[in-house]
Amino acid sequence: MQQRIRRASAVSGSITLPGDKSISHRYAMIAAIAEGATRIQNYSTGADCHSTLGCVRALGIDVEGGGTEFVIHGKGLDGLRAPAGELDAGNSGSTIRMLSGILAGQPFRSRIGGDESLSRRPMQRIMKPLGEMGAHIGAREDKFPPLEIQGARLRPIEYRLPVASAQVKTCVLFAGLFAEGETCVIEPVRSRDHSEIALREFGADLTVDRQKITIAGRTRLAGRELVVPSDLSSAAFFLVAALLVPGSQLTIRGVGLNPTRSALLDFLTGTGAKIAIPELASQNGELVGEIRVEYSELQGGVIEGALTAALIDEIPVLAVLGAVTERGLTVKDAGELRIKETDRIHTVTENLRRLGVKAEETSDGMIIPGRQKFRAAAFDSFGDHRVAMAFAVAALRADGESVIEGAEAASVSFPEFWNTMAHCAQT
Ligand code: S3P
Repeated sequence: MQQRIRRASAVSGSITLPGDKSISHRYAMIAAIAEGATRIQNYSTGADCHSTLGCVRALGIDVEGGGTEFVIHGKGLDGLRAPAGELDAGNSGSTIRMLSGILAGQPFRSRIGGDESLSRRPMQRIMKPLGEMGAHIGAREDKFPPLEIQGARLRPIEYRLPVASAQVKTCVLFAGLFAEGETCVIEPVRSRDHSEIALREFGADLTVDRQKITIAGRTRLAGRELVVPSDLSSAAFFLVAALLVPGSQLTIRGVGLNPTRSALLDFLTGTGAKIAIPELASQNGELVGEIRVEYSELQGGVIEGALTAALIDEIPVLAVLGAVTERGLTVKDAGELRIKETDRIHTVTENLRRLGVKAEETSDGMIIPGRQKFRAAAFDSFGDHRVAMAFAVAALRADGESVIEGAEAASVSFPEFWNTMAHCAQT
């Protein structure tokens, strides 16, 4: 599918975005192994979170509802059923990595795979800790999906994550629920903590001491009512759109502002963005607020170290923004980008080149000089949702009409993206 995007004269109005992808996955998975019904409102409409619901159903759990509201009838820690066929995680790294932690604790064998992009993403980082806990996991070439998981009675472990990854941390914590005793995960830097918050909401016995998280196994979880905040990583595209187009003024309602995710706002304000958060509240342990943003002239800067880990999903769209800043943007320590839905260092710099923007690809990042002009062009999503949306945003400041090829990729996290953009981008 192609989308045509014209230069915008402003990005304005008030918008609401779909539910947070990371939180939706976690709520659905934990609900399946909790006892009783969990009602989830504002569940993500993205295909990735629907892959998770499909897997949960295939494991014998009743899921009622549709749109953005689901009721999941959890059957407790021992209630899952062996799936009849291969579990389909689609394009979703979160589904395969986090659900594997649950599958590792089951008394049955399961197989989980996904689409072509997922089949190229390395899984050793979950295979290693789950193997240490006693599960047997086979993989194509010992590292790629599909995974064959022979569940076992798991042993608790203390696991030091070699790289910051919330998916791997969650995988081990989920497996820890099925082990007798306490499982600990130690992170090199704090990654998003939605799992810790959600597990506690469902009644898990979990403690956090700086970068060490400890979970007690075999604790009963109880179904409950939950509302998912809107996704800050989806909001990032509209924040950047407003910051790129002179005259813009935009309000985004009900956004998740968990401090382990909101480095984006600190980074943007630190470089000169006019962003205000007039309302902030707590909902199911997560911070939620309204964001107001207006067009601003930005300085640019460097994203490196722990900041890179905190902004990892936002780097494609920040790379676009970097090109119009005063000093440009340098991204370092972002080797992880090479193993996302696409090699995002490559797919982003390729599209920046088409945009008429100079950008240098480095082994673990990019160097994007500032004060550059955008040329209308044909961009390619390369099948990657965040690349499709980042260059749709770039097109709002280009000198004519651009085309996004493979625009359907946006549906992986944000099916409403094109309508929302049509609603707030004035031409
Ligand atoms: C996610 C964690 C991040 C992120 C992904 C979602 C999560 O991946 O890039 O989009 O929900 O835990 P890593 O855990 O690989 O860093």
